Amino acid sequence: MIYLVREYIKYCLIAKNRHGIHSPFVYEFNDQCLRLPIPDYEFKIFKDLKKNFQKNNTSIDVTDLGAGSKKLKKQRKISEIAKISGSNDKYGKLLFRLVAHYQPKRVLELGTSLGIGTYMLAAGHENTHVTTVEGCKSTYEIARRTFPASQHAKVDFVNEGFISYLRNLKSQNPFDLVFIDGDHRSESLYNQLDLLQAFIHDETIIILDDIRWSKDMLMAWNHLVQNSDYHLTIDLFKMGVLIKRGHQEKEHFVVRY
Ligand SMILES: C[S@@+](CC[C@H](N)C(=O)[O-])C[C@H]1O[C@@H](n2cnc3c(N)ncnc32)[C@H](O)[C@@H]1O
Repeated sequence: MIYLVREYIKYCLIAKNRHGIHSPFVYEFNDQCLRLPIPDYEFKIFKDLKKNFQKNNTSIDVTDLGAGSKKLKKQRKISEIAKISGSNDKYGKLLFRLVAHYQPKRVLELGTSLGIGTYMLAAGHENTHVTTVEGCKSTYEIARRTFPASQHAKVDFVNEGFISYLRNLKSQNPFDLVFIDGDHRSESLYNQLDLLQAFIHDETIIILDDIRWSKDMLMAWNHLVQNSDYHLTIDLFKMGVLIKRGHQEKEHFVVRY
């Protein structure tokens, strides 16, 4: 906890608003994408979805293929999963904004959980198709069954481990946006990114969640910021953005969100 407070103070001290940003891409990201209004109708569906889960005290057996939860046991109430693992309002809005602004045709989410973030990814643009991958069978079943009808046809729900899913992926049109929000261990994150290389392009937006979840995740994030494969990296405190953009100088930004 103290570690997070220290990190947050550091972030606040160096994070830039639009005046301190000289990259046209990041200026637009900050000035337009991060400020896009969210339609009330979509936000209400997102809030209702979350609220319904938070009221649901049914317990399910969870198989966690990742680093696990710091707070939850193997038998978990749906209400607890929604409170701890689901996207919160601020970052749910960010997912919506990214899709609405950049209009990716193909989105991949690694880590569906109850499908709360998935909803914001799918709702962001009418021509977006989302593939979302969840390793835990019972969680996957709930997400698939309860997903709002208005966006259901735009989402493929996959019940598989991330590594196995990526290893078995056939050559196809690349993903335009990838949201990595599962297994919070550096080794697994590097593996996922390595396997993703064949399925992304130079402008694919990769969003990493929980870059400060642990010291290991922060170390991985700092390592990726240095990685010469990604010429643009953006720190938004909870999430980090990686884009290859091989045509530009390597740049890193800490942006206030
Ligand atoms: C933080 S939750 C995802 C939250 C969701 N993206 C959202 O925004 O609401 C992470 C999920 O990833 C799943 N997961 C973790 N590691 C995994 C792995 N290696 N393969 C498949 N699923 C995994 C967990 O079961 C969990 O449901």
